[in-house]
Amino acid sequence: MRLILTTSRGIEDLACAEIRSLLGELGVPFRVEEKPLGVEGRVLAEVGEAFYTDEKGRKRELSVSTYLNERSRLLHRVIVEIASDRFGGIGEDEPEGALGRIENFVASLPVERFVKVSEPFAVRSFRKGEHKITSVDVAKTVGKAIFERLERFGRPRVNLDHPAVIFRAELIGEVFFLGIDTTGNSSLHKRPWRVYDHPAHLKASIANALIELANPDGGSFIDPFCGSGTIPIELALRGYAGRIICLEKFRKHLHGAKMNALSAGVHGKIEFILGDATRLREHVDRVDFAVSNLPYGLKIGRKSMIPKLYMDFFSELAKVLEKRGVFITTEKRAIERAIGENGFKILHHRLIGHGGLMVHAYVIE
Ligand SMILES: C[S@@+](CC[C@H](N)C(=O)[O-])C[C@H]1O[C@@H](n2cnc3c(N)ncnc32)[C@H](O)[C@@H]1O
Repeated sequence: MRLILTTSRGIEDLACAEIRSLLGELGVPFRVEEKPLGVEGRVLAEVGEAFYTDEKGRKRELSVSTYLNERSRLLHRVIVEIASDRFGGIGEDEPEGALGRIENFVASLPVERFVKVSEPFAVRSFRKGEHKITSVDVAKTVGKAIFERLERFGRPRVNLDHPAVIFRAELIGEVFFLGIDTTGNSSLHKRPWRVYDHPAHLKASIANALIELANPDGGSFIDPFCGSGTIPIELALRGYAGRIICLEKFRKHLHGAKMNALSAGVHGKIEFILGDATRLREHVDRVDFAVSNLPYGLKIGRKSMIPKLYMDFFSELAKVLEKRGVFITTEKRAIERAIGENGFKILHHRLIGHGGLMVHAYVIE
């Protein structure tokens, strides 16, 4: 079986490492590839069949896709691949030509092997890049081709609101993927514990990527701009045994973080402090790890305050941080200056796709 796994751009290597570890635990043969056909935000996993023994001693097949949906912290979707191909020059094709190529390709695929013909289905699509067609065009064309193919075997049914099977068609640049989306309508990064929706919350998958980059060893951990608590909550859910601190300046967000932690069942594992990160020493004497999604100041009035905010924060951090810090922000200049002027060293830098932007992530010491 081939699985197309989706995640944020820029963290494919970390997702690959997670998948290797999860599939390794299952003991199945597998191969994992970052960015199949060069597509960012995608990982391909070729996985052999996995089995377990039931209570009557019978050998039963284990669903690897269900296992990954349940266990992964970095993935967004788990898609069982039906086919993928590169459609050279599709970006320049007129709509009729581009959709014709997609229709012919899908019509030739044995989709009937992946679904029961009578199960109501829907096609969800995703498109990225320069094309003369829209994602709605792709969904309609793929849906028509699947319907006509299934008609050869019975009476297919479409149900766009409550499908039993979701086909996922993706056109990313010149690459087209078709598969069965085993994740469903809601991406895995939208965690069920989120009862308080912070306006600038971090995707849980990225929060876990930052935790991987920090690689905390059980020492004390703080998110000094914790907002709704995504990073501390995800860390606590991983069973982290060390001290976890959530610091936030605004009561409303700190209360939201507490509600989220309650909902996630980890409220008792996190210390919540209402306070200012630029006065960090008033709240902690020392801390081993600091991981945070810094305020970006997207509102014009606040943007001018960012360099001073970062400078004041990193100057305080320099006095309390013992091991590593991991930070993401869109404000490259301000953070690099604050890091450099406060005696920190950048160990690693990468760009991560978040909410349509590429944000800068830094590991510092
Ligand atoms: C980008 S948000 C963090 C979002 C968070 N990662 C989440 O997933 O919900 C930045 C947060 O920093 C808070 N903040 C701004 N200035 C602060 C300061 N001086 N001290 C502490 N928190 C501050 C903001 O209120 C905001 O909640």
